[in-house]
Amino acid sequence: MTEQKIVLSGMRTTGRIHLGNYFGALKNWVELQDRYRCYYFAADWHALTSDYADPSQIAQNTIDMVIDWISAGLDPERSTIFVQSMVPDHAELHLLLSMITPLGWLERVPTYKEQIQQIENKDLSTYGFLGYPVLQTVDIVLYRAHFVPVGEDQASHLEISREIVRRFNHLYNSEFFPEPQALFTPTAKVPGIDGRKMSKSYGNAINLSDSPEVILQKCKQMFTDPQRLKRSDPGRPEVCNLYDFHKLVSPPEIQERVARECRAAQIGCVDDKKLLAQILSDFLEPMRRRRAELERDRDTVFDILLEGSRKARERTAETMEMVRSVMGLDYKKVLQKVTA
Ligand code: TRP
Repeated sequence: MTEQKIVLSGMRTTGRIHLGNYFGALKNWVELQDRYRCYYFAADWHALTSDYADPSQIAQNTIDMVIDWISAGLDPERSTIFVQSMVPDHAELHLLLSMITPLGWLERVPTYKEQIQQIENKDLSTYGFLGYPVLQTVDIVLYRAHFVPVGEDQASHLEISREIVRRFNHLYNSEFFPEPQALFTPTAKVPGIDGRKMSKSYGNAINLSDSPEVILQKCKQMFTDPQRLKRSDPGRPEVCNLYDFHKLVSPPEIQERVARECRAAQIGCVDDKKLLAQILSDFLEPMRRRRAELERDRDTVFDILLEGSRKARERTAETMEMVRSVMGLDYKKVLQKVTA
Protein backbone atom coordinates (compact mmCIF):
# COMPACT_ATOMS: atom_id res chain seq x y z
CA MET A 1 0.00 0.00 0.00
CA THR A 2 1.37 3.44 -0.84
CA GLU A 3 1.54 5.86 2.02
CA GLN A 4 -1.50 8.09 2.33
CA LYS A 5 -0.93 11.67 1.19
CA ILE A 6 -0.68 14.26 3.90
CA VAL A 7 -2.97 17.22 4.38
CA LEU A 8 -2.13 20.01 6.78
CA SER A 9 -3.82 23.25 7.67
CA GLY A 10 -4.09 25.73 10.50
CA MET A 11 -5.96 28.78 11.69
CA ARG A 12 -4.67 31.69 13.69
CA THR A 13 -6.14 31.53 17.15
CA THR A 14 -8.53 34.41 17.30
CA GLY A 15 -11.28 32.75 19.33
CA ARG A 16 -14.69 31.43 18.43
CA ILE A 17 -15.11 30.81 14.77
CA HIS A 18 -17.82 32.06 12.46
CA LEU A 19 -19.75 30.84 9.44
CA GLY A 20 -17.14 32.34 7.13
CA ASN A 21 -14.45 30.14 8.72
CA TYR A 22 -16.80 27.18 8.58
CA PHE A 23 -17.81 27.40 4.92
CA GLY A 24 -14.42 28.78 3.87
CA ALA A 25 -12.30 26.11 5.55
CA LEU A 26 -13.56 23.90 8.33
CA LYS A 27 -16.28 22.11 6.38
CA ASN A 28 -13.66 21.13 3.81
CA TRP A 29 -11.24 20.02 6.55
CA VAL A 30 -13.91 17.70 7.92
CA GLU A 31 -14.47 16.13 4.52
CA LEU A 32 -10.75 15.65 3.85
CA GLN A 33 -10.47 13.43 6.91
CA ASP A 34 -11.95 10.54 4.93
CA ARG A 35 -9.31 10.63 2.23
CA TYR A 36 -6.02 11.80 3.70
CA ARG A 37 -3.84 11.68 6.73
CA CYS A 38 -4.74 15.04 8.21
CA TYR A 39 -2.94 17.42 10.56
CA TYR A 40 -4.86 20.45 11.83
CA PHE A 41 -3.36 22.92 14.22
CA ALA A 42 -4.01 26.07 16.20
CA ALA A 43 -1.53 28.69 15.04
CA ASP A 44 -1.01 30.46 18.36
CA TRP A 45 2.45 31.77 17.49
CA HIS A 46 0.98 33.25 14.34
CA ALA A 47 -1.60 35.03 16.49
CA LEU A 48 1.31 36.47 18.43
CA THR A 49 2.79 38.10 15.31
CA SER A 50 0.08 40.75 15.52
CA ASP A 51 -1.19 40.40 19.11
CA TYR A 52 2.17 40.36 20.86
CA ALA A 53 1.33 43.43 22.95
CA ASP A 54 -1.51 41.61 24.72
CA PRO A 55 -1.17 37.84 24.54
CA SER A 56 -3.52 37.28 27.49
CA GLN A 57 -6.37 35.91 25.35
CA ILE A 58 -4.39 33.61 23.10
CA ALA A 59 -4.61 30.40 25.15
CA GLN A 60 -8.32 30.87 25.84
CA ASN A 61 -8.87 31.59 22.15
CA THR A 62 -7.07 28.37 21.27
CA ILE A 63 -9.39 26.34 23.48
CA ASP A 64 -12.52 28.08 22.16
CA MET A 65 -11.43 27.54 18.58
CA VAL A 66 -10.61 23.88 19.07
CA ILE A 67 -13.96 23.28 20.77
CA ASP A 68 -15.62 24.76 17.68
CA TRP A 69 -13.53 22.52 15.42
CA ILE A 70 -14.48 19.35 17.22
CA SER A 71 -18.12 20.38 17.49
CA ALA A 72 -18.19 20.89 13.74
CA GLY A 73 -16.81 17.42 13.03
CA LEU A 74 -13.03 17.35 13.26
CA ASP A 75 -12.37 13.97 14.76
CA PRO A 76 -9.33 13.51 17.02
CA GLU A 77 -9.45 9.76 16.29
CA ARG A 78 -8.83 10.35 12.61
CA SER A 79 -6.96 13.67 12.48
CA THR A 80 -4.01 14.92 14.45
CA ILE A 81 -5.22 18.08 16.18
CA PHE A 82 -2.48 20.08 17.87
CA VAL A 83 -1.17 23.43 19.04
CA GLN A 84 1.77 25.03 17.26
CA SER A 85 3.54 26.16 20.43
CA MET A 86 3.31 22.65 21.89
CA VAL A 87 5.59 21.47 19.10
CA PRO A 88 8.82 23.43 19.62
CA ASP A 89 10.38 22.01 16.44
CA HIS A 90 8.42 24.75 14.64
CA ALA A 91 10.77 27.25 16.29
CA GLU A 92 13.99 25.46 15.36
CA LEU A 93 13.05 24.99 11.73
CA HIS A 94 11.80 28.57 11.59
CA LEU A 95 15.25 29.73 12.55
CA LEU A 96 16.92 27.52 9.97
CA LEU A 97 14.59 28.53 7.14
CA SER A 98 14.94 32.19 8.09
CA MET A 99 18.62 31.87 7.16
CA ILE A 100 17.84 30.98 3.56
CA THR A 101 14.81 33.23 2.91
CA PRO A 102 15.65 36.43 1.02
CA LEU A 103 14.14 39.56 2.55
CA GLY A 104 12.80 40.65 -0.82
CA TRP A 105 10.52 37.62 -1.03
CA LEU A 106 8.93 38.54 2.29
CA GLU A 107 8.64 42.25 1.59
CA ARG A 108 6.74 41.69 -1.62
CA VAL A 109 4.06 39.36 -0.20
CA PRO A 110 0.81 41.28 -0.91
CA THR A 111 -0.81 40.49 2.45
CA TYR A 112 2.24 41.92 4.21
CA LYS A 113 2.13 45.25 2.42
CA GLU A 114 -1.64 45.46 2.82
CA GLN A 115 -1.70 44.74 6.54
CA ILE A 116 1.22 47.03 7.36
CA GLN A 117 -0.76 49.84 5.73
CA GLN A 118 -4.25 48.97 6.89
CA ILE A 119 -3.85 47.92 10.50
CA GLU A 120 -3.26 51.15 12.32
CA ASN A 121 -3.79 50.24 15.96
CA LYS A 122 -0.86 47.80 16.07
CA ASP A 123 2.78 48.28 15.21
CA LEU A 124 3.48 45.51 12.75
CA SER A 125 6.97 46.64 11.76
CA THR A 126 8.54 43.72 13.60
CA TYR A 127 10.89 40.95 12.62
CA GLY A 128 8.29 38.33 13.60
CA PHE A 129 5.51 39.80 11.50
CA LEU A 130 7.73 40.01 8.42
CA GLY A 131 8.60 36.36 9.00
CA TYR A 132 4.96 35.21 9.12
CA PRO A 133 5.22 33.32 5.79
CA VAL A 134 8.45 31.63 6.89
CA LEU A 135 6.73 30.30 10.00
CA GLN A 136 3.79 29.22 7.87
CA THR A 137 6.18 27.38 5.54
CA VAL A 138 7.62 25.59 8.54
CA ASP A 139 4.14 24.57 9.70
CA ILE A 140 3.69 22.79 6.40
CA VAL A 141 7.07 21.28 5.65
CA LEU A 142 7.71 19.97 9.17
CA TYR A 143 4.98 17.43 8.41
CA ARG A 144 6.17 16.96 4.82
CA ALA A 145 2.61 17.80 3.80
CA HIS A 146 1.49 17.45 0.19
CA PHE A 147 -1.75 19.41 0.30
CA VAL A 148 -2.74 22.53 2.16
CA PRO A 149 -6.45 23.37 2.18
CA VAL A 150 -6.72 27.16 2.40
CA GLY A 151 -8.78 30.06 1.10
CA GLU A 152 -7.74 32.02 -1.99
CA ASP A 153 -6.38 34.74 0.30
CA GLN A 154 -3.52 32.40 1.20
CA ALA A 155 -2.33 31.90 -2.39
CA SER A 156 0.69 34.19 -2.02
CA HIS A 157 1.74 32.47 1.21
CA LEU A 158 1.62 29.07 -0.46
CA GLU A 159 3.64 30.40 -3.37
CA ILE A 160 6.42 31.63 -1.10
CA SER A 161 6.36 28.29 0.75
CA ARG A 162 7.00 26.53 -2.52
CA GLU A 163 9.85 28.91 -3.31
CA ILE A 164 11.46 28.35 0.08
CA VAL A 165 11.15 24.58 -0.38
CA ARG A 166 12.79 24.76 -3.80
CA ARG A 167 15.60 26.86 -2.40
CA PHE A 168 16.16 24.47 0.50
CA ASN A 169 16.17 21.42 -1.74
CA HIS A 170 18.54 23.14 -4.15
CA LEU A 171 20.99 24.50 -1.54
CA TYR A 172 21.30 21.27 0.37
CA ASN A 173 21.06 19.07 -2.63
CA SER A 174 18.09 17.20 -1.30
CA GLU A 175 14.66 16.20 -2.49
CA PHE A 176 13.58 16.06 1.06
CA PHE A 177 10.61 18.39 1.27
CA PRO A 178 7.69 17.86 -1.09
CA GLU A 179 6.53 21.10 -2.73
CA PRO A 180 3.24 21.76 -0.98
CA GLN A 181 0.15 22.35 -3.10
CA ALA A 182 -2.78 24.52 -2.15
CA LEU A 183 -6.20 22.92 -2.16
CA PHE A 184 -8.36 25.98 -2.61
CA THR A 185 -11.68 25.62 -0.87
CA PRO A 186 -14.52 25.52 -3.36
CA THR A 187 -16.97 27.80 -1.66
CA ALA A 188 -19.09 30.79 -2.43
CA LYS A 189 -17.85 33.75 -0.46
CA VAL A 190 -19.62 34.12 2.84
CA PRO A 191 -21.01 37.59 3.44
CA GLY A 192 -21.34 39.14 6.87
CA ILE A 193 -24.62 40.55 8.13
CA ASP A 194 -23.72 43.89 6.49
CA GLY A 195 -22.98 42.30 3.11
CA ARG A 196 -19.19 42.80 3.33
CA LYS A 197 -16.99 39.72 3.64
CA MET A 198 -17.66 38.02 6.99
CA SER A 199 -14.83 38.86 9.33
CA LYS A 200 -14.37 39.02 13.05
CA SER A 201 -12.67 42.39 12.74
CA TYR A 202 -15.64 43.89 10.86
CA GLY A 203 -18.03 42.89 13.66
CA ASN A 204 -20.40 41.39 11.07
CA ALA A 205 -20.00 37.69 11.86
CA ILE A 206 -22.39 34.94 12.91
CA ASN A 207 -20.50 32.54 15.16
CA LEU A 208 -21.04 28.80 15.23
CA SER A 209 -21.69 29.21 18.95
CA ASP A 210 -24.34 31.94 18.67
CA SER A 211 -27.61 31.14 20.45
CA PRO A 212 -30.90 31.12 18.52
CA GLU A 213 -31.75 34.48 20.08
CA VAL A 214 -28.49 36.05 18.92
CA ILE A 215 -28.93 34.55 15.47
CA LEU A 216 -32.40 36.07 15.20
CA GLN A 217 -31.05 39.45 16.33
CA LYS A 218 -28.33 39.30 13.69
CA CYS A 219 -30.70 38.18 10.93
CA LYS A 220 -32.93 41.14 11.74
CA GLN A 221 -29.99 43.47 11.04
CA MET A 222 -29.29 42.03 7.60
CA PHE A 223 -29.65 44.23 4.55
CA THR A 224 -32.27 43.25 2.02
CA ASP A 225 -33.00 44.71 -1.41
CA PRO A 226 -32.63 48.48 -0.84
CA GLN A 227 -35.27 49.17 -3.48
CA ARG A 228 -37.89 47.13 -1.69
CA LEU A 229 -39.27 49.82 0.57
CA LYS A 230 -42.80 48.58 1.11
CA ARG A 231 -44.03 45.07 1.84
CA SER A 232 -45.98 45.18 -1.41
CA ASP A 233 -42.90 46.01 -3.53
CA PRO A 234 -41.46 43.02 -5.38
CA GLY A 235 -37.93 42.15 -4.20
CA ARG A 236 -34.75 41.00 -5.92
CA PRO A 237 -33.19 37.99 -4.20
CA GLU A 238 -30.01 38.37 -6.25
CA VAL A 239 -29.09 41.58 -4.39
CA CYS A 240 -30.36 40.46 -0.99
CA ASN A 241 -27.97 39.62 1.84
CA LEU A 242 -30.50 37.17 3.32
CA TYR A 243 -30.70 35.25 0.10
CA ASP A 244 -26.91 34.74 0.04
CA PHE A 245 -27.33 32.92 3.35
CA HIS A 246 -30.25 30.85 2.05
CA LYS A 247 -27.91 29.66 -0.69
CA LEU A 248 -25.48 28.43 1.95
CA VAL A 249 -27.81 26.74 4.41
CA SER A 250 -31.32 26.27 3.03
CA PRO A 251 -32.52 23.22 1.12
CA PRO A 252 -33.04 23.88 -2.63
CA GLU A 253 -36.83 23.84 -2.39
CA ILE A 254 -36.79 26.57 0.25
CA GLN A 255 -34.37 28.67 -1.79
CA GLU A 256 -36.61 28.32 -4.78
CA ARG A 257 -39.78 29.18 -2.82
CA VAL A 258 -38.25 32.19 -1.07
CA ALA A 259 -36.95 33.59 -4.36
CA ARG A 260 -40.31 33.15 -6.03
CA GLU A 261 -42.34 34.61 -3.18
CA CYS A 262 -39.91 37.52 -2.76
CA ARG A 263 -40.19 38.47 -6.42
CA ALA A 264 -44.00 38.27 -6.16
CA ALA A 265 -44.07 40.26 -2.87
CA GLN A 266 -45.71 37.28 -1.18
CA ILE A 267 -43.13 37.00 1.57
CA GLY A 268 -41.95 40.10 3.43
CA CYS A 269 -38.38 40.75 4.52
CA VAL A 270 -39.26 40.42 8.20
CA ASP A 271 -40.80 36.98 7.71
CA ASP A 272 -37.87 35.95 5.59
CA LYS A 273 -35.48 37.02 8.36
CA LYS A 274 -37.35 34.87 10.86
CA LEU A 275 -37.33 31.94 8.47
CA LEU A 276 -33.59 32.25 7.84
CA ALA A 277 -32.86 32.58 11.57
CA GLN A 278 -34.78 29.36 12.19
CA ILE A 279 -32.92 27.49 9.45
CA LEU A 280 -29.55 28.75 10.67
CA SER A 281 -30.35 27.81 14.26
CA ASP A 282 -31.40 24.30 13.22
CA PHE A 283 -28.26 23.96 11.14
CA LEU A 284 -26.05 24.91 14.10
CA GLU A 285 -28.02 22.97 16.72
CA PRO A 286 -25.96 19.72 16.61
CA MET A 287 -22.74 21.74 16.94
CA ARG A 288 -24.23 23.70 19.84
CA ARG A 289 -25.09 20.47 21.64
CA ARG A 290 -21.64 19.00 21.13
CA ARG A 291 -20.02 22.22 22.28
CA ALA A 292 -22.04 22.27 25.48
CA GLU A 293 -20.67 18.81 26.31
CA LEU A 294 -17.09 19.82 25.61
CA GLU A 295 -17.44 23.04 27.60
CA ARG A 296 -18.39 20.95 30.61
CA ASP A 297 -15.46 18.63 30.02
CA ARG A 298 -12.46 20.83 29.31
CA ASP A 299 -10.04 18.15 30.50
CA THR A 300 -11.02 16.09 27.48
CA VAL A 301 -10.28 19.01 25.18
CA PHE A 302 -6.93 19.51 26.82
CA ASP A 303 -6.14 15.79 26.57
CA ILE A 304 -6.95 15.86 22.86
CA LEU A 305 -4.46 18.69 22.38
CA LEU A 306 -1.78 17.00 24.48
CA GLU A 307 -2.13 13.74 22.62
CA GLY A 308 -2.36 15.42 19.20
CA SER A 309 0.73 17.51 19.94
CA ARG A 310 2.59 14.40 21.09
CA LYS A 311 1.77 12.66 17.81
CA ALA A 312 2.76 15.79 15.90
CA ARG A 313 6.14 15.82 17.66
CA GLU A 314 6.76 12.24 16.58
CA ARG A 315 6.43 13.34 12.98
CA THR A 316 8.49 16.52 13.37
CA ALA A 317 11.30 14.69 15.17
CA GLU A 318 11.84 12.57 12.04
CA THR A 319 11.84 15.67 9.87
CA MET A 320 14.32 17.53 12.08
CA GLU A 321 16.69 14.59 12.09
CA MET A 322 16.78 14.68 8.30
CA VAL A 323 17.09 18.47 8.19
CA ARG A 324 20.04 18.51 10.58
CA SER A 325 21.61 15.77 8.59
CA VAL A 326 21.35 17.45 5.16
CA MET A 327 22.52 20.74 6.67
CA GLY A 328 25.57 19.14 8.27
CA LEU A 329 24.36 19.87 11.79
CA ASP A 330 24.22 16.27 12.85
CA TYR A 331 26.87 16.35 15.57
CA LYS A 332 26.62 12.72 16.46
CA LYS A 333 27.53 11.75 12.93
CA VAL A 334 30.41 14.24 12.85
CA LEU A 335 31.79 13.05 16.19
CA GLN A 336 31.66 9.43 15.09
CA LYS A 337 33.72 10.31 12.02
CA VAL A 338 36.31 12.12 14.14
CA THR A 339 36.73 9.29 16.63
CA ALA A 340 36.75 6.57 13.96
N1 TRP B 1 -2.07 32.10 7.65
C1 TRP B 1 -3.19 31.20 7.82
C2 TRP B 1 -4.45 32.03 7.94
O1 TRP B 1 -4.41 33.18 8.35
C3 TRP B 1 -3.03 30.33 9.05
C4 TRP B 1 -1.88 29.38 8.94
C5 TRP B 1 -0.73 29.41 9.66
C6 TRP B 1 -1.78 28.28 8.05
N2 TRP B 1 0.08 28.39 9.31
C7 TRP B 1 -0.53 27.66 8.32
C8 TRP B 1 -2.62 27.74 7.08
C9 TRP B 1 -0.10 26.54 7.62
C10 TRP B 1 -2.18 26.63 6.37
C11 TRP B 1 -0.93 26.03 6.64
O2 TRP B 1 -5.52 31.52 7.68
